[in-house]
Formats: sequence, structure tokens, C-alpha cells
Amino acid sequence: MKNDILKYLRDKEYISGEVLAKKLGVSRVAIWKQIQRLKDIGYKIIADQNLGYYLISRPDLLLPQEIQNGLSTAYIGQKIYYFPELGSTNIIAKEKALRREEGVNEGTVIIAERQSAGKGRLGRKWFSPEGGIWLSIILYPQLSPSYISLITLMTAVVVVKAIKRYTQIKAQIKWPNDILINNKKVCGILTEMSAELDMINWIVIGIGINANIDYREFPEDIKKSSISLKEILGKEISRVRLVQIFLKEFERYYELLKRWEISLILKEWKLYSHTLGKKIKVNIGEKVVTGEAIDINEKGALILKKKDGELIEIISGTII
Ligand code: BTN
Repeated sequence: MKNDILKYLRDKEYISGEVLAKKLGVSRVAIWKQIQRLKDIGYKIIADQNLGYYLISRPDLLLPQEIQNGLSTAYIGQKIYYFPELGSTNIIAKEKALRREEGVNEGTVIIAERQSAGKGRLGRKWFSPEGGIWLSIILYPQLSPSYISLITLMTAVVVVKAIKRYTQIKAQIKWPNDILINNKKVCGILTEMSAELDMINWIVIGIGINANIDYREFPEDIKKSSISLKEILGKEISRVRLVQIFLKEFERYYELLKRWEISLILKEWKLYSHTLGKKIKVNIGEKVVTGEAIDINEKGALILKKKDGELIEIISGTII
């Protein structure tokens, strides 16, 4: 009912409790209770005895009703689980995907205002205070596990495009999935999956964007290497708007990927790449390889040209 009330309140005009009650087929007391709930979560609503209710402002929260208002996707983000605070959205998403909870369909999103145990790659912690965008998307693609790298690359492309569309800022992708602005990390992506030999059971893609974070907040160890959109723009952004743009683009690119139309994804990845053309060292688990990053292939692997001219394909690793 909260959503229905908000629809009527959005018109920037007073609306009386009586009219609202009639429109929604409930009592005036029921309306009053819902208005109190909206106020509790940060909506500023005034109530005039004669004129009725008036919405002054919405909270800057990533509330499902705010994100879904005007979100024209078919399935990505059509179901959102929202938490003011959570350990990690990836952990909750994995639990839900594993149990295949009812209603947890492809495209379900878990969002938290802050995470107390945000997860980064390679077992690292992810700094997740209020003001950032911390979300995970659950997918059940009927694809082979070898697609996992491509899905991560695709997500990185979509983040760059969403940031560009909303802020005009050109971010870059450091292979495999760090998003950089001015050589500093503004977003990280953590993809986790469960799969059989030839089929993915579920994928959880966790995206962390340093949106409205003050640079003074970053802990010492990541202060030099991190940046936020607020810091670059000198003002806060509408996180709701950025999430909407991101989810819409995500669905478009994910549909392309499912149809194996990956040329656009690869082309854009190369266009935004911070890595190609550079001499790099990559930790691939058991050893470190050095060479020039010259290409990315259709599996999402990085092609490295060693000093002796040998080309090697790296499907997963970390640039050091
Ligand atoms: C990285 O190390 O670069 C990946 C960071 C991924 C962080 C996001 S925030 C939302 C989601 N939930 C988590 O616990 N981690 C990911």
C-alpha cells in the first residue's frame, strides 16, 4: 500500500486522507499508519488538517519503490530485497539462490545501504559505508560455466556505461573487473557461481560502487587507490538514478550475452580498457607472468605477449 500512496503523493499537490482512503479502498486510519511508516523510513511528508498530505522530499535511500518507479526492465530488478544494514549482499544472494527461494527469480537484486562484512575478491574485505551502492544480482543462465568471465566483463562494461551516461565521466576497466577513474578504484565486481561440469546452477554478481562517499572516509590502506563519484563531481549523485540506469543496461547486455552476441561487449570492453597495450605482471595463482596485454578473446581471457613473443591466454588472475 505504501507504493500506492507514494504514487498519489508524487503529484506535488496536497491530497486528503479521505481521497487517498477512497482511492485505495481502505480506512483513513490505515492511510495515516502507512504515512507514519513512510516518515519513519525518511520520506518528509507534511499533514495539513484541511488540505491533507504533501510529499516534501524523498529519502536518499535505495528503496525498492524508488528504484522500481520508472524502471523499464523486464526482469532485472523487478524483485528487490532491501536492507539498511547487512553483512554482505553476495552472501544473502547466494543463500537465496542456493535455496531457490520462491520469488527469487532471474534478475532478483539484493541491496544494502551499508555492509558490515562486504566481500572483495581474493578473500579481501570491501569497505562498504553508507552512501555507496552495494548490490548483488542473482542469475540463472542456461550457459556453460565457461561464460563466467564474460559475464564479469560484461558487468564491468555496463558499470562504465552507466557512470558515463549519468555523470559524463569516462571510467576505465582494469582487467578483469576493477573500474577506475584517474587510475583509482571507483567500483569492484565480485562474481560467484555454482555449476555442474557443463551447466551453471546460479550466478551472483556483486557490484560495489563508491558513489556518495567522502574521500576522508576511506581507510588508510585504500585511501590512495580509491576514489568516489562524489569526490570527482564535487557533489552527491542520485544513487537511485544510477542504479536504474545500471539495471536497465545490464538487462540489455545480458540478453545479448545469452544469445552469444558478444562482439559489442568485447568491442566496448576494449574501448574502455585500462589494461590493453600496457606491460603488466599477472599473478595467476601458482606463478607470476609478465608481458604486454594485447587483447581479450571471446572467452573473456586476457592475451599476454611475453618477451619471447609467446602468446598466453589468462582466464583468471590479478594484475600486480
Ligand atoms: C573487488 O574486490 O574488487 C570486488 C568488490 C565487490 C564488492 C561488492 S559490494 C556488493 C557485493 N557484496 C559484497 O560483499 N561484495 C560485493
